Amino acid sequence: MKGDNEVAQKIDRRTFIKSGVGLSAASLISKGSQPFYQNAENSRPVVIASANGLRATEKAMKMMRQGKDSLDSVIAGVNIIESDPEDITVGYGGLPNEEGVVELDSSVMHGPSHNAGAVASLRHIKNPSKVARLVMERTAHALLVGEGALKFALSHGFKKENLLTEKSRKIWLKKKESLSDKDFWYPPPVEIKKSDPHALLESHGTINCCALDVQGQLAGVTTTSGFFYKIPGRVGDSPLIGAGLYVDNNVGAAGSTGFGEANILTCGSYSVVEFMRQGHGPEQACLKSLKRVANKARLWPGYKDEKGRPIFDLNFYAVNKRGEFAGASLWKGKHFAAHDGQKNRLRECAYLYEK
Ligand code: GLY
Repeated sequence: MKGDNEVAQKIDRRTFIKSGVGLSAASLISKGSQPFYQNAENSRPVVIASANGLRATEKAMKMMRQGKDSLDSVIAGVNIIESDPEDITVGYGGLPNEEGVVELDSSVMHGPSHNAGAVASLRHIKNPSKVARLVMERTAHALLVGEGALKFALSHGFKKENLLTEKSRKIWLKKKESLSDKDFWYPPPVEIKKSDPHALLESHGTINCCALDVQGQLAGVTTTSGFFYKIPGRVGDSPLIGAGLYVDNNVGAAGSTGFGEANILTCGSYSVVEFMRQGHGPEQACLKSLKRVANKARLWPGYKDEKGRPIFDLNFYAVNKRGEFAGASLWKGKHFAAHDGQKNRLRECAYLYEK
């Protein structure tokens, strides 16, 4: 629990945000041991996201051009994906846990106030990122989970909904029926091979979205339904500040998609921002963090191939205070979405390994 002093500081920060006073135009960025100043007025709006976030980057850029701040913009962007039943690993229509229940995780982080909020294992609410924002702005806490998070959302007027769509229910049932021949669940006598849930999983993902707005302020959001068929109550990296998301308004913002446990165990997004603080560009910072993950993965039984390389994938996305940005993955072939102020398109991720 936060002490009175910290609560008071949080209230001060809120007052500070409401007053509209941000950082001065000149913000300190450290480059190796030689700090230098980057004039925020030179920065342009930039927004990046995971590959499923092109509509989010489009929306966020539009809002930032209208003068909205980066946090409002990235949340509005990911709300589109959270509400879309076709994206089966985010929000409404996200794939459920092993009991067939959709449980959502999300975090938001606001650079100017260095404040964050998050929810985990939240059921029945299709826009967990909006609830995460309320945790940041309307509580003295940083993370609410499960039943408490749901009650908090209902207190704020959110509507309880069934998030399991027919499409996701069928994928869940197929998985349940094909897991083992030593239980009482049988697959249908004739398998319809139209949709392979694993192929679907590969083509979608958690969404992370980070932005630098026209005032040079950074913010980010990560939102997900987490691992398909997870153990009920499992919390991934997305709602954990420092793992699925981290923002330092003087340096940059970073977020992640992919195998959350590997990211939690290495504080991935925090390390990307720290590498940027040391003077590395976003691409190098993401790759250095991935290298760290890959090295640690050698210690995890069952998570490496015969060459000692991780068998999972993890992706980082980063934007720095100057508006430079990148995406990087452990394995070749991934993309990320970016609107650089001129073009909104998918770009190739840098990578460590080729299959
Ligand atoms: N990165 C999303 C998750 O592991 O839940």
